[in-house]
Parts: sequence; structure tokens; C-alpha cells
Amino acid sequence: MKKIMILGAGIYQVPLIKTARKLGIYSIVVSIPGNYPGFELADKVYYENTTDYDKILEIAKEEQIDGVVTAGTDVAVITIGKVCDELNLCGLSFESAQIAANKLLMKSKYEEHGVRTAKFREIPLSADDVSYRVSDLSFPLIFKSVDSSGSRGIVRVDSEADFDAAIQNVKENTRSDYYIVEEFIEGEEFGAQAFVYRGEVTFILPHGDYVFKGDTGVPIGHFAPYELDASVIADAREQLTAAIHAMGLDNCAINADFILKDGKTYVLEIGGRSGATCLAELVSIYYDFDYYEKILQCALGENTVFECDSHAVPNASMLLMSSRDGTIREQTDKNPDNPNIYDVQFDHKPGDSVYKFHVGPHRIGHVITKGDTLKQAVDTLHEALKNIEIKVE
Ligand SMILES: Nc1ncnc2c1ncn2[C@@H]1O[C@H](COP(=O)(O)OP(=O)(O)O)[C@@H](O)[C@H]1O
Ligand SMILES: [Mg+2]
Repeated sequence: MKKIMILGAGIYQVPLIKTARKLGIYSIVVSIPGNYPGFELADKVYYENTTDYDKILEIAKEEQIDGVVTAGTDVAVITIGKVCDELNLCGLSFESAQIAANKLLMKSKYEEHGVRTAKFREIPLSADDVSYRVSDLSFPLIFKSVDSSGSRGIVRVDSEADFDAAIQNVKENTRSDYYIVEEFIEGEEFGAQAFVYRGEVTFILPHGDYVFKGDTGVPIGHFAPYELDASVIADAREQLTAAIHAMGLDNCAINADFILKDGKTYVLEIGGRSGATCLAELVSIYYDFDYYEKILQCALGENTVFECDSHAVPNASMLLMSSRDGTIREQTDKNPDNPNIYDVQFDHKPGDSVYKFHVGPHRIGHVITKGDTLKQAVDTLHEALKNIEIKVE
């Protein structure tokens, strides 16, 4: 029996753990303790911090694992790189994982390899001549912590008067002694899921994003196909392929964020793992294969075949959210049987407390639909959402 180590026990790792079980793979789940749904599905559990790569490596050696993987989060990607390098497993390298986890390293690679990305400058946190250092960038600007995620330490700045507040925000959200300032690109955000395997990009699937406007945009759903001109899609593919190779990513899923401006794709950032918020499911439906299966096969070093040519099933998804803090009293799915409703998931049981939606982890479930056309998938999504009743008091 092969042994897979899965880093994380949260909602986005659960499908990986379930798929491992389905395939007869022994799953070792590692996560900090907490009320995480993945623990009870695992064959074996270690309560450790997944960013502590020396500790995780020690466990991986002891357990003689055949692969290590995660889904839907960047938290443990550096650890995956470390373990793969040390144990010669199939997955991204430590070096490429470090590049993916640092916005300065990532953007520098893009610049070096001619990948289209916002113009940027590296600034020491202690610098008192910021205006001079950014003088050849055009406003609006965006100040960024290099090592955070979820839009923490990321501030749009429209004039010099806002520099100090932005730098303060960066300081509160970084462990580094430098940050970056880049030009703000006014455009439309979209993304792509992709996979790089044995040096080749096996598929690229651009998708549209539904965004919740809180303090910053939070993705709450996705849809595919993303209907853009063929030339725009071709350009996005070219930029993404170049970015993957620039970062040295290989043998991993790819989660890419882009901004489209004047028909040109700018690469915002790329992660070496599959996306959250129903994005792995988006890939599975679109190509009619089980994406989690492919991710596991690749991580175990098995020959992995992506059949992407003959299918293109339109689909759409949306998170379920609460409009208030409170306790779930009742949750009912009143949808009639409909083959186009792919999945309705409640993350909690009645009695669990939940938060008013603000950031991704506040999700309380999701709905995923498909259709013969994108319109049908999206219409079905909106219909299906109306038939779900969740009472929070
Ligand atoms: N150069 C830019 N131009 C316009 N918007 C940007 C730019 N960089 C970041 N953003 C916005 O900030 C969000 C977070 O930035 P990102 O670099 O992806 O950091 P994080 O790792 O926190 O997701 C993006 O999704 C986008 O909305
Ligand atoms: Mg991002």
C-alpha cells in the first residue's frame, strides 16, 4: 500500500484525503490541532505545524512516505519542496517553492524571463527615501508585503500622502525587512488552473472569478470557460507557461492570478498547488477526470495522464455564506434532483457557530453546477442557491 502525506486537514484537503482512501492509498494527515474535518478521514494523524519543515521531514523519513502533497493553500508548500528534495519524491523543488512564497523573488524571476507583470521596485523597510526610489513608477501604486497572503499587507496608494500608512500596514504583515512597490494595474482579474508535469505544462484552464467586495476582494466562486477572444487566451497561456518555467515549478498543480488590461495578461502571482474555492472541482468537471486523483498520482511518482482534449464541460460555483455571526439552527437543501447540480456541501452541522462572511475561511458550504453552456451552468447555480435555506441565529 502506498503512503501519501497530506499537509493540512481543512476543508480544502478533505477531498484529497477521501480520494486517497478511494484509491486504496494510506493517508498520513499532518496539521496543527484544531476542529479540522480531515482528521477523522485519515489513516494516521500527526498534530504538527506544517510549516516546520525539519519536523515534517523527520516524520516523512520515519514513515517512509511515497509522496507529499496539499491542495488549496500555500501554507505548507515550502515544506513540500523540502521533503520532495530530501527524499527524492515527485513534486516541486524547495527552491521553486521558496520563489513562489516570496513576491520579490517571484517578480524578479518574471522580470528576468520577460514575463509580463506590473513594474516594481524593492524597498528596504528602513528606507526614508521611498519617493525617490519609486520615482520612475506611475501612480496608482500598490505596496506589498513579500511574504503574506490573502491580501494582508497589500495597500493601494494613490498619492505620496498615503506612503506612511501603507508602509505601516506592510510592517504589520511581514517577517521580512523589505517590501515591494508596484504599479497598480486597472483591469479585470481572472485566474487559471494548470498543471506542470515532467517539465511540460499539461493543461491551462482560464477561469472567471466571482469576488466578494469586503476590505479587499475575496474570491467566492468561479466559472469556466472564461470566454475571452482566442488571441487573449493565447497570450494568457503564453505568459503563464513562461511564468511557470521562470519560477522553476515542476510536478505540481498551478494556481495563477492574472489581471487583464487592454487585451494583455499581467501575471499577478502563481502558487505551486491547486486553487481553493471549488477550483479543483472546476478542473474535474471541465475535463471530466478526477483532478484530485491526478494530483495524488503525480505526488506518488506514478505515471499521470491528463486527457484534456475531448471535454469542455461548462461549470460554475459559489460559496455559501452567513450574513451574521451566530449559530446554525437549520440547513436544508430544497433543490429537486437535477443532474446539473454537481455538489451542494454544508461545511458545518446545526449547532456550530459561524461568522458573518468576511474572508474565505468564513465559508459555510458551497454549490457547484454544470451545464451544456456556461449560461445554463450559471443560471442553474443561481436557481440552486435560492433553494438552500440556512438559518443562523
Ligand atoms: N499590480 C496590481 N495591480 C492591481 N491590483 C493588484 C496588483 N497587485 C495586487 N493587486 C490586488 O491585490 C490582491 C492581492 O494581491 P496578491 O499579489 O495576489 O497578494 P496575495 O498573496 O495577498 O493574494 C490581488 O488579488 C489584486 O486584487
Ligand atoms: Mg493573490
